[in-house]
Amino acid sequence: MQTVLITGANRSIGLETSKQLSQKGLFVYLGSRSLAKGEEVVKELAEKGFQNIKAIEIDVTNPDSISKAKNIIENEQGKLDILINNAGILGVNPQTAVETSVKDIQEVFDTNFFGVISVTQAFLDLLKKSDSPRISNITSGLGSLTLHSDPNWKYYHVKAAAYGSSKSALNAYTIVLAYELRELPFKVNVIDPGYTATDFNHHSGPGSVESAASFIIKHTVTDENAPTGQFYSNDIEDETGISPW
Ligand SMILES: NC(=O)c1ccc[n+]([C@@H]2O[C@H](COP(=O)([O-])OP(=O)(O)OC[C@H]3O[C@@H](n4cnc5c(N)ncnc54)[C@H](OP(=O)(O)O)[C@@H]3O)[C@@H](O)[C@H]2O)c1
Repeated sequence: MQTVLITGANRSIGLETSKQLSQKGLFVYLGSRSLAKGEEVVKELAEKGFQNIKAIEIDVTNPDSISKAKNIIENEQGKLDILINNAGILGVNPQTAVETSVKDIQEVFDTNFFGVISVTQAFLDLLKKSDSPRISNITSGLGSLTLHSDPNWKYYHVKAAAYGSSKSALNAYTIVLAYELRELPFKVNVIDPGYTATDFNHHSGPGSVESAASFIIKHTVTDENAPTGQFYSNDIEDETGISPW
């Protein structure tokens, strides 16, 4: 049975992704920065018939919490097949390039960028023990420099200086990570779930968590011929789902 860790999975897109992965027969570590919240969610899922989901405490900004989560998965599984770096925050609102403080921008980077790096580096040796390791970093269309500099893009006027920059940085990091792991059976990609109705945007997004999760899974649970170092977006309306960087 393949084992997956997904961060920020106690609600919204991460939770729905956990449900769909469980239905596909994977063992899911449902990451939650509050263990109590995660366990409550897992209890409710078990009552609805979802199997092989276990809550695990992981705050991506807390090295001690990451290391404890790694030790638990190492002791219980000895390896990790799939890491989905999903936890993310928007940060202060509004957030402008002109006025947002460095402190507020750093806070967003701590979760969306440095958090992903910390979790990825901590779990890399467990992922290397898998026959088909996958790392999916959850990004945003706002991280695409090509799209959000294009006045004709449908979300051109949606600007978030801290959030967008953190996702662009995540994209850049992922390209390098995929490159460094290219001789191993890794697939390392960034995936934009699309503008989705969640707590994140006060449920203003047009997309559903079901569509977001199935898109993430489609580009994560892949075979050995699948691309690595790619940017997929659920908001790109063609069958490839490939987004410009
Ligand atoms: N919704 C969209 O339209 C959209 C579009 C593009 C990309 N995305 C990306 O998709 C991902 C999920 O978004 P969402 O809409 O599901 O967001 P959400 O509803 O705000 O949920 C975010 C999740 O991340 C967790 N989290 C936040 N900070 C964390 C930390 N330091 N450590 C661990 N977990 C943390 C939250 O935990 P708590 O419950 O403890 O707060 C929650 O479980 C994010 O990376 C987001 O940037 C979303």
